[in-house]
Amino acid sequence: MKILSIESSCDETSAAVVEKKNAKLSVLAHVTATSLFTHAKTGGIIPENAAREQVKYIIPVIVEALNKSHKKKTLQSWKTARQILQNDIDALAVTYGPGLIGSLLVGVETVKTLSYVFNKPLIPVHHLLAHIFANFVVHNHIQYPFIGLVVSGGHTDLLYVTSATTYSWLGGTRDDAAGECFDKCARLLGFAYPGGPTISKLAEKGNAKNISLPKLMKDKNFDFSFSGLKTAFMNVVKKEFNVYSSPNKKGYSWIHTSVEALPEAKQQLLYDLCASLEQTIVEVLVRKTLNAAEKYNCKTVLLGGGVSANHTLLEKLYQEATIRGKKINIFSPPQEYCTDNAVMIGAYALLNYKPENIENVHATPELYFA
Ligand code: KG4
Ligand code: ZN
Repeated sequence: MKILSIESSCDETSAAVVEKKNAKLSVLAHVTATSLFTHAKTGGIIPENAAREQVKYIIPVIVEALNKSHKKKTLQSWKTARQILQNDIDALAVTYGPGLIGSLLVGVETVKTLSYVFNKPLIPVHHLLAHIFANFVVHNHIQYPFIGLVVSGGHTDLLYVTSATTYSWLGGTRDDAAGECFDKCARLLGFAYPGGPTISKLAEKGNAKNISLPKLMKDKNFDFSFSGLKTAFMNVVKKEFNVYSSPNKKGYSWIHTSVEALPEAKQQLLYDLCASLEQTIVEVLVRKTLNAAEKYNCKTVLLGGGVSANHTLLEKLYQEATIRGKKINIFSPPQEYCTDNAVMIGAYALLNYKPENIENVHATPELYFA
């Protein structure tokens, strides 16, 4: 079975053709247009801007993905794309939530139209579950049950997953998401969106022990909270980096233009601060994930979402599992399937094939776990 899948929940417009043959998934085409550069300029995602970019890209990425799936040379030919969709695609899948309403509407309404015109079944997909199931694209033999940790720009959730269709939600963030905390702290330093990769890179040169930030959520439940950390981080930035809110006073608000231009001691302080932030976020993610694995007696942990691209997170998970004397299999998707992509949408639709009448498929920005 071959699925054409679409992801448009936030700032990426992505289309893929994914196939399932003898229980094995393979990616025949994957095309993603990003509007990241637009959001880098505004220091974060402005929903209206993101939606406008989605409208621009949605048809070109679909046409290109279809042509690529047949190795056509003319990637923007609507004629061949149409034939491929008509003759070779069995079903369509689309992210219906959660996400930004304008961005979601672009994908959902486009795919509903294609489903109607080409008479193809349509599978609506939960974006966050798809993040976790992205691991199945590259790993064939993942065993249930497992603990799933969704860590993205908008979400931080722990799940106990017993099959492709059954799971329980264990807990999630009460305020900011892990990725959001990285992004907002990076912004305080003047770095562009997305801040996670930048903080992580600077953290490589730092020593987390030199700056202490408050340890997060020591309680035994599976909830998270990152807003206090952001405030503590902001206080250090204000004090040490002389960043003023008043436009009259000149501080180090130009950090982003050249870290090297900072006095040497401040450079090291910046690296240490980034290392401390990363370590604090990673520590709570690791502790709660392994607590969940122990409580539910799971030998497997799956990560998903943009922050799962963070190397320190993966390293610390392995280290802490070893310290606890646990043999745990940890899976994290390859970089291109960590951040938003249509491959994970097609993969989840193939693993959990539940077509829905188009009348019942709606963009749902506030979609929670059942
Ligand atoms: O899953 P995603 O692409 O979009 C959402 O659904 O939110 O995740 C984007 C988030 C951003 O907050 C970004 O800063 C974060 O993932 N991120 C990282 C890294 N790469 C991306 N955070 C920490 N370390 C990274 N290497
Ligand atoms: Zn996402």
